[in-house]
Amino acid sequence: MSALPASFSPVSFDRDAATRIMRRCRELRAISASPGAYTRLYLTDEHRRAADLISHWMRQAGLAARMDAAGNVIGRIDGTDATAPALVLASHLDTVRDAGTYDGQLGVVTAIEAAAALIRRADKEPLPFPLEVQAYADEEGTRFHTMLLGSGFVTGLEDASVLAKADSEGVTISEAMKGFGLTPERIGDARRQAGDFRAYIEVHIEQGPVLEAEGLPLGTVTAIAGQIRAVVRVRGMAGHAGTVPMAMRRDALAASAEAILAIEAVAKAGADLVATVGEIQAGPGASNVIAGETRFTLDLRSGNGLAKAAAFEEIERRLREIGTARRVVFEIEVGSNTGATACDPGLIECIDEACEAVQGRSLHLLSGAGHDAIALAGLCPIGMIFVRCEGGISHNPAENITEADAGAAFAALLHAAQTVIRRG
Ligand code: GLV
Ligand code: MN
Ligand code: MN
Repeated sequence: MSALPASFSPVSFDRDAATRIMRRCRELRAISASPGAYTRLYLTDEHRRAADLISHWMRQAGLAARMDAAGNVIGRIDGTDATAPALVLASHLDTVRDAGTYDGQLGVVTAIEAAAALIRRADKEPLPFPLEVQAYADEEGTRFHTMLLGSGFVTGLEDASVLAKADSEGVTISEAMKGFGLTPERIGDARRQAGDFRAYIEVHIEQGPVLEAEGLPLGTVTAIAGQIRAVVRVRGMAGHAGTVPMAMRRDALAASAEAILAIEAVAKAGADLVATVGEIQAGPGASNVIAGETRFTLDLRSGNGLAKAAAFEEIERRLREIGTARRVVFEIEVGSNTGATACDPGLIECIDEACEAVQGRSLHLLSGAGHDAIALAGLCPIGMIFVRCEGGISHNPAENITEADAGAAFAALLHAAQTVIRRG
């Protein structure tokens, strides 16, 4: 473990906070759909248990905690002017399948820790406006293939029209909400308005290798790449594996294999593009039956909106071509399409100052990963602090950070929040 940076401000650094952040991330990790792999999806029993624990920590910190109509956990303290726009510190509480320990969770528990510190200091430095800690119930889009549902319902990026989307078992968001104890007809109650928030700051692991290579615990995010998430359905014809000649087949799985390689080729041919097919199902699903149907996911990202749109069109064209040649039908259903999102110059400056105070210098990074900050950018200025992770590994159980870096993230978040408070 690396040593704590020597230049920590004694005002803002609290060694116990770093220990608590790491312990709480491990406690959240224990709330999983299966003991062998860390998985916590939207509107599940695990979501409920994690939300209860986070609410408890929020109350311990001095925040009033509630679950909103979308299943997000919102902690709030009003400050001296309860009607003023709030400063929001946030991240997400859901995970991918077989996840690492820190993606999302680190930001939530660090935000709670920073709120606790600000509340403890409020006799010396009163909070002039409300402070909210928000823990979003769905950022990853793992269950419903639509990312940012939690923060999207808060900001209006998503609305009731998405509730009919179904998970892989055919359960719609609306049905899952009812099963969870939420009322889908009231989803609009989760919506907050422009003017409710003055600024949004999120701590998140970098999920890439740059900070480690630079020998720095923290970085300042300047922008977040845009991404398209889609589900592709391929309809061919099921048949007997022994009797249908190769030339007469309409094999949906072979067509999908060709399509996946075409998607990879489109992304490789472009600059600043990545494309991933991370999940596939084939039916009816027997070794002696030609696949009649498949369904696979598409995740396409770029920092350049034009490049992303052009690549998506090219993928559509290539899939149509493959469909014609193989006599199968491709249908692409886009679940979400976000543009590249810029962080606010004032918050970038404020986070730079915080990083300089904590580690001597700041470093600017572009985020290839999606974050709740994308949704919040629709309502208020956003800023993000990235935290070094071992080997740049994320979306993988090997995801790891040091306690010292958690302490650095806490110190920087607190510093940045105090700057926002002092600037008013
Ligand atoms: C969120 O983790 C993403 O996939 O970008
Ligand atoms: Mn993630
Ligand atoms: Mn995340």
